[in-house]
Amino acid sequence: MKPIRVGLLGFGTVGRGTYEILRRNQEEIQRRAGRGIEIVKIAVRDAARARTVVGAGIEVTDSPEQLVGSAGIDIVVELIGGCDPARALVLEAIGNHKHVVTANKALLAVHGNEIFAAAHRVGVMVAFEGAVAGGIPIIKALREGLTANRIEWIAGIINGTSNFILSQMRATGASFESVLEQAQALGYAEADPRFDIDGVDAAHKLTILCSIAFGVPIRFEAAYMEGIGKLAAADIRYAEQLGYRIKLLGITKRTSHGVELRVHPTLVPMQRLLASVEGPMNAVLVKGDAVGTTLYYGPGAGAEPTASAVVADLVDVTRTHTADPDNRVPHLAFQPDALVNLPWLGIEDTVTSYYFRMRVADRPGVLADIARILADHRISIDAMFQREPSEGENQTDIILLTHEALERDVNAALGRIETLPTVLAPVIRIRQEELL
Ligand code: HSE
Repeated sequence: MKPIRVGLLGFGTVGRGTYEILRRNQEEIQRRAGRGIEIVKIAVRDAARARTVVGAGIEVTDSPEQLVGSAGIDIVVELIGGCDPARALVLEAIGNHKHVVTANKALLAVHGNEIFAAAHRVGVMVAFEGAVAGGIPIIKALREGLTANRIEWIAGIINGTSNFILSQMRATGASFESVLEQAQALGYAEADPRFDIDGVDAAHKLTILCSIAFGVPIRFEAAYMEGIGKLAAADIRYAEQLGYRIKLLGITKRTSHGVELRVHPTLVPMQRLLASVEGPMNAVLVKGDAVGTTLYYGPGAGAEPTASAVVADLVDVTRTHTADPDNRVPHLAFQPDALVNLPWLGIEDTVTSYYFRMRVADRPGVLADIARILADHRISIDAMFQREPSEGENQTDIILLTHEALERDVNAALGRIETLPTVLAPVIRIRQEELL
């Protein structure tokens, strides 16, 4: 059988990784896919440079429009990133009845509903394993392996850059800026690293996971995002003393009131496997009603890890492109007409436990005032300690862990606490999850 013909849009880190894997593992991939998978065309801005890297049989162009319109291509692999011009090119490729493989989480988080609807209309596949958690086959696991389950929640470390930064800061005491530079040099960070630091990249991925887990349309606007930019070394230290690590988690949960979709720094008990995920590694914890809790771990970024997912998608498309579209695994795990809109919960409606750090005057009655206000707002204290003030110092830090509380109540209580004359700075609050 003739090889399936692939066109690559973009030839950066992941594009080169894809080229290299297809070249190196050609024979095994063919044995698995049932026919060869061949890159026949690459569209890249610097075509001359790409020509020096790839084999003579591959056409290199600087026109992505020409590639998506090309009659000699069966699958378009979109590795440009971002929404513009990726959205238009992907829709154009679909319009030309080409299957699409993409690792573009931003594109799917923002325009996924439109793209999947277009693909469904013409009966082509849009595969996107590489868009979430790089080399970890989490889409496959959720969409197929766990298909018997009612998914209850997902909690994941799904941004390698921020996990790398948090790990390095904790282990070496290095500054935020120097660790970020390292992450960029190693190729983990997004073109705009604020996407990593501010939780946007994690929210893109979480939004996709949420839809596949609960059978809801993709809704990036519903995501709450809080990044790691404001985390202080002191909080990382205090959390350790209490038996926790701070991780940037993406959490999506189905409650009786609706769906939570949130990314924020989170205290994770040290004895959970997730707390030991260090460096740029990713890990996703999924709670299903039948299977219980399962954990998926691996590299979430980098050339070949992400390309590993891209090539897996190419094999999947190669195996199933002749199947009746109605018999393929649906893009979002649920049949397109069976997606349902559930209520989306804002962060104020979230119930979780909290870590508070309060800078206070070290004098009688301070703690009593704070405890009274927390009690007034139904917030119960789970643990606390006070830093020993240094010689002659008349202020200190009080660290509190709470039982579960409604965020709206926490906001009201902290608003009152911050008006106390003995509370000397805004209260630091970090959410905490037991992940059981
Ligand atoms: N910037 C992303 C990360 C790359 O750090 O995880 C993979 O999406």
